[in-house]
Order: sequence, then structure tokens, then C-alpha cells
Amino acid sequence: VTAALTAGPLAGRHVLVTSGPTHEPIDPVRYIANRSSGAQGTALARALAALGASVTFITGPAAAKRPEGVRVVEVETARQMLDAVTAALPADAAVFAAAVADWRMASERPSKMKKTADGALPVLEFAENPDILATVSKLTEGRPRLVVGFAAETDDVTAHATAKRARKGCDWILANDVRPETGIMGGTENAVTLITAEGAETWPRMAKDMVARRLAQRIAEELA
Ligand code: CTP
Ligand code: CA
Repeated sequence: VTAALTAGPLAGRHVLVTSGPTHEPIDPVRYIANRSSGAQGTALARALAALGASVTFITGPAAAKRPEGVRVVEVETARQMLDAVTAALPADAAVFAAAVADWRMASERPSKMKKTADGALPVLEFAENPDILATVSKLTEGRPRLVVGFAAETDDVTAHATAKRARKGCDWILANDVRPETGIMGGTENAVTLITAEGAETWPRMAKDMVARRLAQRIAEELA
């Protein structure tokens, strides 16, 4: 009923959004994670829904309040996130705002690691997580028409993000400068550069909600 009553430029479109960090268990009490409040991904899910999209919001354990009016799928690890994304396809567009942990433990320990009397330090062995954005970008069948990645960088933002766009095979990258002095991580504002096939477009610094609305609008134009 809700869907039938929803108008807007994205009515009838399914858009998938990943958001938040992933947590990769080390042992039953510890994990590896990225810093991510989930604020930008959550704002984007809301903005897409406001334009009439049917949104699947796949989130890791994030502090941000879950968006309303969207289908929420909660996951913990990168591998669970990939499975949830695959299960949510097909989609007209997919936006990968999650801060996915690049590595997990080569093997998760079934019991808590304990300090030893001699002070010997543990050595952790890592395995690389699947790249969800690259996996979806490179699908030969069932690839969303528009695939958008994020790139959080601390230097040479445009150069790194442009290279990342090519490497991952996505259509757009929304890049931002997350050096601590920008106050973007954990803050309410964002300063982004949108990288497309046409080049780089720097947006003025604005509230994350406004970045979300502008990106949702651009997605609507692209899918029109
Ligand atoms: N991403 C993903 N799966 C991963 C890692 C990243 O889907 N395992 C997505 C992120 O959600 C983001 C984009 O890829 O949209 C870029 O993430 P980023 O960490 O900047 O890229 P990496 O390829 O991991 O490169 P870096 O070495 O800079 O971390
Ligand atoms: Ca990474």
C-alpha cells in the first residue's frame, strides 16, 4: 500500500545502500573495526526513500539510528554484508557507504585470548575480506545500472579516488577528506568530491543530510 501511494522520481526503483562499519571478531570479546557512525549512509537511505525509492539498507553495527520506511538488514562482518547484498539484488542502483574492514582474522579464536605471565604479545594473522563494491561492480549478470562507491582518504583525495573508481569498476565515487582536523568523521558535515566518467566535481562543505539529498537527486536523474 505504501509503495503504491509513494510518488517521486525514484518510485518503482530499488536502491541498495550499505552503511556503518563491519566488525570482525578476534575472539568472543574483541573485534577489528573501522570508525564509522553510519551517519552519511543513513541520511542517504532516508533521502532516497523520500524520493520514492524502495530502499534496502544493509548496515553493520553503527551508532546511527536506523532509517524509517526502508528495509533494514543488520549484519556484523564483511562476509555477512556481501551475502546480504547479494541476496538483496537485483537493484537499479547500489551505493556502498559502509566502512568495511579490509581484514579479518585468518582464524577466529573460539575462546578468549589471555595475557600470559611472561608478557608475551599475541601475533594476529589476517586474511583479506571480500571487496563488496568491486564484486558488485564487476558482475556480468544482474549488475545494478548505477554503482556508487565512497572513498575516505587522508591525502590526494581526487587522485586516490579517481584511481579507486577505475580499480573497482564502479560508475561513481563520492570521495571525502577524513583527516582528523576536518572534523568530518563523527561530525554532522561532509565535504565531498564526486568522481564520474566525466571527471571530478567538488561540492561545497554542507550538512551530511544535504550531501545525501544532492546525491539522491543525482541518482534519480541518472536512472530517469
Ligand atoms: N568496500 C567494500 N568492500 C570492502 C572494502 C571497501 O565494499 N571490502 C567499499 C566501501 O564501502 C567504499 C569503497 O569500497 O564504497 C572504497 O572503500 P575504501 O576502503 O576507500 O577502498 P579500499 O579498496 O579498501 O582501499 P584502501 O586501501 O584505501 O582502504
Ligand atoms: Ca578499505
